Amino acid sequence: MIRPVYIYGSPILRKVAVNIDSTYPDLKQIIEDMFETMHHSDGIGLAAPQIGLSIRLIVIDASPLEEDEATMKDFKKVLINAKIIERFGEKKLFKEGCLSIPNLREEVEREESIRIQYLDENFIPHDEVLDGIPARIAQHEYDHLEGMLFPDRISALRRKLLAGKLLSISKGKFDVDYKFKLAK
Ligand code: CO
Repeated sequence: MIRPVYIYGSPILRKVAVNIDSTYPDLKQIIEDMFETMHHSDGIGLAAPQIGLSIRLIVIDASPLEEDEATMKDFKKVLINAKIIERFGEKKLFKEGCLSIPNLREEVEREESIRIQYLDENFIPHDEVLDGIPARIAQHEYDHLEGMLFPDRISALRRKLLAGKLLSISKGKFDVDYKFKLAK
């Protein structure tokens, strides 16, 4: 089932999400819905707060990037209770977008590599080093679990220049073809 994506200004996007265990209700369905919602909206990553659930659950499917980078074909993951242990390597700029902030893309600076621990959909633990685009996506989605959004990571000046645009996004002044939910 496709679920509405919560839009910038929704308080849930600013909450720190909580860990879950395997008894969390309807988890399998939620994960399936998140993939469906993400694919429908042409996203490559989605965090549970973006569908209104303040839990530490992320889905990633970078296969749409395969044309640019062949290795992305198989970068498809469920990350539960993810924890970034270390960020390292050169800091790089990359233009990011977010389904919760439609029609806005900005250069965001992040480390090139991370070490991340998480549980997969079967609650099997993983401890991995990610580099490049996978590290970029994981860091963006991880921020969602911490109540952070990518405009928090751009310069104060740039953010000030975008304030009006962000306000109109929060009021629904954008054009997308996926279901969304504005703050009340
Ligand atoms: Co996002």
